[in-house]
Amino acid sequence: MAAKLLSDLASGVTCVPSNYVRPVHDRPSLDQVEPSDHSIPLINLHGFDGSRRHEIINQIGLACQNYGFFQVQNHAIEDAVIDNMLKVAREFFHLPESERLKCFSEDPLKTTRLSTSFNVKTEEVSSWRDYLRLHCYPLEDYMHEWPSNPPSFREDVAEYCRNVKGLAERLLEAISESLGLEKDYMNRALGKHGQHMAINYYPPCPQPELTYGLPGHADPNVVTLLLQDDVAGLQVFNNGRWVAVKPMPHTFIVNIGDQIQVVSNDRYKSVLHRAVVNCDKERISIPTFYCPSYDAVMEPAPQLVDDHHPPLYRRFTYAEFYEKFWDRGLNTRSSLDLFKTTSHA
Ligand code: OGA
Ligand code: NI
Repeated sequence: MAAKLLSDLASGVTCVPSNYVRPVHDRPSLDQVEPSDHSIPLINLHGFDGSRRHEIINQIGLACQNYGFFQVQNHAIEDAVIDNMLKVAREFFHLPESERLKCFSEDPLKTTRLSTSFNVKTEEVSSWRDYLRLHCYPLEDYMHEWPSNPPSFREDVAEYCRNVKGLAERLLEAISESLGLEKDYMNRALGKHGQHMAINYYPPCPQPELTYGLPGHADPNVVTLLLQDDVAGLQVFNNGRWVAVKPMPHTFIVNIGDQIQVVSNDRYKSVLHRAVVNCDKERISIPTFYCPSYDAVMEPAPQLVDDHHPPLYRRFTYAEFYEKFWDRGLNTRSSLDLFKTTSHA
């Protein structure tokens, strides 16, 4: 039987199997990528609950307008929580195939599942990635579904989830305030929110110039907090070119998702990003996707709509949006186009 997971195929191949090879016009062009050390703003959150709040909110607002991406330091999540998360993630992907396959599923609606590429049922070209997706909020609804091997998996991941939720909520306050909205605006707009995470595992790749770990896409949710190990791979589209983001230990990379683009009525953009792979090293990245509840109604904030800024999106439920996102596959044309008001389509 053919390997279900890429990690069980990758170690035995010297060239990329044809179903992973991108068409010539859609390859990473690694030589044209900006290798900047200061690719996206780095924001120090120290003093957010005190003297520096105003300054930090300004910095976050500027980063959201100009990049859609920023990194945060001094976020109050202890190094040990982050280190344990990365360690247990690596241990999971190093388990024997039979053990990992216990949670394999190709159904995007399953709340705990190991899969490969993006959506194997609908995509034409595969991506050089395996991933474990977990729903994480409320924890007690999902934790029992998670892998029980490695033995500390549930405990380490739950601790990480609780911490990241706290950080996401503070960032959403800052983002709301930076738009001139009440600080709890975003948190209220989400309804009974969701928190999902992916543990992405990118094995070394014999021909990284032919394929992607993840092709260019914008995230469909509200905000994403990405933790990565020390291997580079994330690239962000800025000013017409791809910019590599250099890994910094114990730092989170934050990006605006499609739903903030909608609520902000396009003041903030959900920006294209992608992951490339390399010949030598496996890479682990762990995005936390903070989402509206499926029945939350999303629309531009009324405070951001006036005669000069007509609403650019129609009202929709997040369920409607999310379904379109998974069906269309990762695509540089945003799912948002399907929800534009007709006069601006
Ligand atoms: C994602 C994503 C980037 C990375 O999972 O949505 O953009 O560096 N990941 O793995
Ligand atoms: Ni993404």
